[in-house]
Amino acid sequence: MTNKMWGGRFSKATNELLEDLNASISYDYRLAKYDIEVSIAHAMMLAKSGIIKNEECDLIANGLKSVKKEIDDGKFELNKQLEDIHMNIESRLTEIIGPVAGKLHTARSRNDQVVTDTRLFLIEKTNNLIALIEENQKILSQQALDNFDTIMPGYTHLQVAQPITLGHHLLSYVELLNRDKLRFKDSLKRLNESPLGAAAMAGTSYPIDREYSAKLLGFDRPMSNSIDAVSSRDMILETLSNTAILSVNLSRFAEEIILWVSTEFNFIKLPDSLTTGSSIMPQKRNPDGAEIIRSKAGRVIGSLSTLLVVMKGLPLTYNKDLQEDKEPLFDAIDTIELSLQVMCQMITEMKPNKDRMLKSAKNGYSIATDIADILVQNLDIPFRDSHKIVGSIVSFAEENNKPLDELVVEDYQKIDKRITIELVNKISFDRIIHNKTSQGGTAPSNVKKEAKKWLKALKNR
Ligand code: ARG
Repeated sequence: MTNKMWGGRFSKATNELLEDLNASISYDYRLAKYDIEVSIAHAMMLAKSGIIKNEECDLIANGLKSVKKEIDDGKFELNKQLEDIHMNIESRLTEIIGPVAGKLHTARSRNDQVVTDTRLFLIEKTNNLIALIEENQKILSQQALDNFDTIMPGYTHLQVAQPITLGHHLLSYVELLNRDKLRFKDSLKRLNESPLGAAAMAGTSYPIDREYSAKLLGFDRPMSNSIDAVSSRDMILETLSNTAILSVNLSRFAEEIILWVSTEFNFIKLPDSLTTGSSIMPQKRNPDGAEIIRSKAGRVIGSLSTLLVVMKGLPLTYNKDLQEDKEPLFDAIDTIELSLQVMCQMITEMKPNKDRMLKSAKNGYSIATDIADILVQNLDIPFRDSHKIVGSIVSFAEENNKPLDELVVEDYQKIDKRITIELVNKISFDRIIHNKTSQGGTAPSNVKKEAKKWLKALKNR
């Protein structure tokens, strides 16, 4: 049998292997609800413009609603021979309402239909991702407020650098996620244009009203150029790259969670529900969730590269290559949605081990830079000189196996006579942290204010 929808000029059926290669129905069935929405809007536009009769439009719209119900009830049968979701739906519509169904495809093509469906999918998913990001930001801000004065080591080169507050560290992810969110929000401006009515690629001679169908579907306006409308996929690339950046950001936090739950760090604890056991080593509690989130970034980046490579050098306008946009898009969206959901759970449930974090912060001579600053501020010496003096103080502490804040004035004076008891009294761990009040700094007072600011901003979201 030749294809029912386009087989007019064909005398032989499609080769079965080609059919397998060519069909997209196994994945583009996910566009069904948008496809029906788009078809109803198109039919209404055709009726309004006098291209079909109102009664025909009603028949078509009601028929499409019955198809939608069959899909929702799981009664709709997908047929590979009909290639894709567009032709599966139209064919079923024909079975239900008869030949009048054939009028639906007036002044349109699958080329404008598929990108319109895809844009509606992208808009819905983008809004959903924005909400999920905000959920993560909210939970992070709450944890930051709960831990506004929980001291932990801050790292550079994964070596203890300076003491920070856990709240400050968590809020850095709130900022990072905010930029992810803004990227998605910004992309909505470009997604919000309707390709419908571009037809195959050149527009149409029917007196269609593209403004009307665009408005019916909730778009801001129709796209301006029919060639651009059917051939561009940059909006998918944009979503995929936003998703790839987000997944990389999540993978960095996931990596920190993995480090923090390790026996060596022991900074946080995750509940049993968010860890898994080992089939051989009874003592293990593995942070699989975080590990999978870390690795999923690879998969999402893969989706972006797939589509970039598909698009590279592709001539305008529509080419069947463009059908390959869907699987990477669906996969990346599903992956990031699940990652964001699991991340929410992990942030909510993680319990910091405050004693252990404080001990680690003190261990690595993390206040050396602050001692150097205290010397600069009190002895009127250049920072470079003070850096040298503190270098010797650290060596002394190391040789004598003492943390820096336990050295006494006599110890300091062995290195430099100018260091007085008043000066040494200023070297307290707590004081150093509380003094980091520069804008954006780690002082608990700053962190409390910032966490509250974020919670307020995210409150009604
Ligand atoms: N399934 C196709 C896709 O996803 C729909 C458009 C087909 N257009 C065509 N001229 N064969 O791209």
